[in-house]
Amino acid sequence: MIPIKVAGPAPSEPRNPATAALQYLQPGALNLAALPPLSLYIHYPWCVRKCPYCDFNSHEAKGELPEKDYLDAVRLDLEQSLPLIWGRKIHTVFIGGGTPSLMSAAGLDRLLSDVRTLLPLEIGAEITMEANPGTFEQERFKSYRDSGVNRLSIGIQSFSGSHLKALGRIHDEREALRAVEIARCTFDNFNLDLMFALPSQTLEEARRDLQTAMSFAPPHLSMYHLTMEPNTVFAKYPPALPDDDLSADMQDMILEATAAAGYEHYEVSAYAKAGKRAKHNLNYWGFGDYLGIGAGAHSKISFPHRVLRQARYKQPGSFIEAAKRGNPVQEEHEIARGDMGFEFMLNALRLTEGFDPNLFGERTGMNISAITKPLNEAEAKGLLYRDHKLIKPTELGQRFLNDLQEMFLVG
Ligand SMILES: C[S@@+](CC[C@H](N)C(=O)[O-])C[C@H]1O[C@@H](n2cnc3c(N)ncnc32)[C@H](O)[C@@H]1O
Ligand code: SF4
Repeated sequence: MIPIKVAGPAPSEPRNPATAALQYLQPGALNLAALPPLSLYIHYPWCVRKCPYCDFNSHEAKGELPEKDYLDAVRLDLEQSLPLIWGRKIHTVFIGGGTPSLMSAAGLDRLLSDVRTLLPLEIGAEITMEANPGTFEQERFKSYRDSGVNRLSIGIQSFSGSHLKALGRIHDEREALRAVEIARCTFDNFNLDLMFALPSQTLEEARRDLQTAMSFAPPHLSMYHLTMEPNTVFAKYPPALPDDDLSADMQDMILEATAAAGYEHYEVSAYAKAGKRAKHNLNYWGFGDYLGIGAGAHSKISFPHRVLRQARYKQPGSFIEAAKRGNPVQEEHEIARGDMGFEFMLNALRLTEGFDPNLFGERTGMNISAITKPLNEAEAKGLLYRDHKLIKPTELGQRFLNDLQEMFLVG
């Protein structure tokens, strides 16, 4: 990691964004022939209650939320970020959380009109919003759609009342079904998030959850293996979880059942009907660029000779204050040449169909020879398939993805 030396004030103090941006255009260690597609991520940091397994930047809403102050700060954040992305069109927008569906219809409308005023969106840009069952009101969701949201991603997790309770969710099975029904009537394009390998879950219960989800014919499904994240309630008080054999059986069941229903398994956890892959997430996995605004949001922004990463203040109050002071970015660094191969492969190896080797050069500004050694080793171990047009993880590589990705760590 190379900390960027920002000329002038310390990062937590105001700075002239245009001057700061100029230094990134100076000669550097990389050579990118063209800049990648650019997405916009907007973080909404509050939830009704914190789920015991969750390590996202989400904060329990206590009392009335400072929606106006927050949206003012997000606008300031966007304005201050503009010099970093001058002239570039926005490929996709993702409003994530937290629980963005806690936002009022007027708040969301204001947010998207701020985005449109300040940034050029590509025609027909995918605009996704995350929503939680338990926050669904038909009229509000129609307003979200009318304001420009054209894809909804719903955190269902399970359709079983007892599993939802074990996960500490605020919704029950009735609300889960109702949320999908409202989404289906309101949005042509929607995704359902389910988790599996839940506390005490059987193979049959996991199958039932998946079949219930697929009975609504969602264009996209995300199937996440529940993981124990550090610093969560589940990490401190671990629930009884299915063993490795059972969760591998669940994974096999998911692969078979989704394929039989016509879903393409295109990324570790993502399944889509033809033409319905998540464009925003595909940009992450293809090592594209994203400007992340809002509390705790992360950015990756390319310049002709360097790639920059940023993180904003995580606490909503600190973020709002920092944005008012003129700089909500808490940490900023340039990706070191030596880390670039790993960072690219960490993302691209998640794609089950792999990628064109030329993409490596386009996105990293380096020659693919930089990763020849680990590519050869991974191929020799049967974890990777490679020819001059394609690099992709084999089935074995998909099963042992962490090991495969780690092979690209250098030093
Ligand atoms: C950014 S989260 C938030 C979405 C929304 N707030 C919700 O929970 O309904 C996106 C998804 O990540 C998944 N997720 C969160 N924590 C997880 C964990 N510890 N293990 C596996 N999946 C997790 C859940 O399926 C969740 O819907
Ligand atoms: S609702 Fe979603 S973001 Fe909020 S705490 Fe639960 S899992 Fe995390």
